[in-house]
Amino acid sequence: MELREVVKGRRSIRKFKPVEVPRSLMEEIMEEARWSPSWGNTQPWEFYVVTGQPLAELKRLNNEKALGGALPAPDVPMPEKWPEAMKGRYGELGRLVLDTLEIPREDKEARNRYYLGMSGLFDAPCLLVACIPKDLQVEYAMLDIGLIVQTVCLLAHDRGLGSCIMAAAVLHPDLLRSIAGIPADRRVVVGVALGYPDDSYPLNHFERPRAKREDFTHWVD
Ligand SMILES: Cc1cc2nc3c(=O)[nH]c(=O)nc-3n(C[C@H](O)[C@H](O)[C@H](O)COP(=O)(O)O)c2cc1C
Repeated sequence: MELREVVKGRRSIRKFKPVEVPRSLMEEIMEEARWSPSWGNTQPWEFYVVTGQPLAELKRLNNEKALGGALPAPDVPMPEKWPEAMKGRYGELGRLVLDTLEIPREDKEARNRYYLGMSGLFDAPCLLVACIPKDLQVEYAMLDIGLIVQTVCLLAHDRGLGSCIMAAAVLHPDLLRSIAGIPADRRVVVGVALGYPDDSYPLNHFERPRAKREDFTHWVD
């Protein structure tokens, strides 16, 4: 695929076919993702590739936590407030999701079903968990993680794999620590759900809004 086609074609996939991702494919992707840039070439990232029985167990326990109303305790705090423009876009995404799935606002049960699907990682057959050392100053390391995670998503898309970067996958890092054997001195940053997209799912197709180029680019001549 042309690079431009990959950049524009990648989108968050929120339902996957029940088809395993071959380990050899993930190995190729991780091999190529090594060429992502990082602060001072520190390469602070570490990835856990969770599949099969451990992933099934993680989904089950995540759902149990969600159903039981357990309070999330992520290693990276969730944002709680945004400047107006961003708050508006976040709200718009929520409305688009509900409209696309034809869920009326007041249908709390259907909304909860959707969120339960999210804690079940949208049925993805593979979850990447991105970590950094806990004793590393976080700001630039988070930027480095963002760069490599996007690289992974683009490389995945180029091979016909769908992805969804997911804060929701790491709301309970202690579950991940026990299931994936992630040491206590690692900060669990974000998850990436991966698998073959279920093309029949409307949420894998809706038109995503974006700000106009002139809304976020300032030319200084
Ligand atoms: C750091 C980060 C965390 C995200 N967490 C979630 C999540 O928990 N659940 C979800 O459905 N999408 C999640 N997303 C996906 C965003 O909603 C998505 O990237 C955004 O709406 C733009 O859509 P696109 O990826 O299809 O271009 C996350 C994206 C990023 C970058």
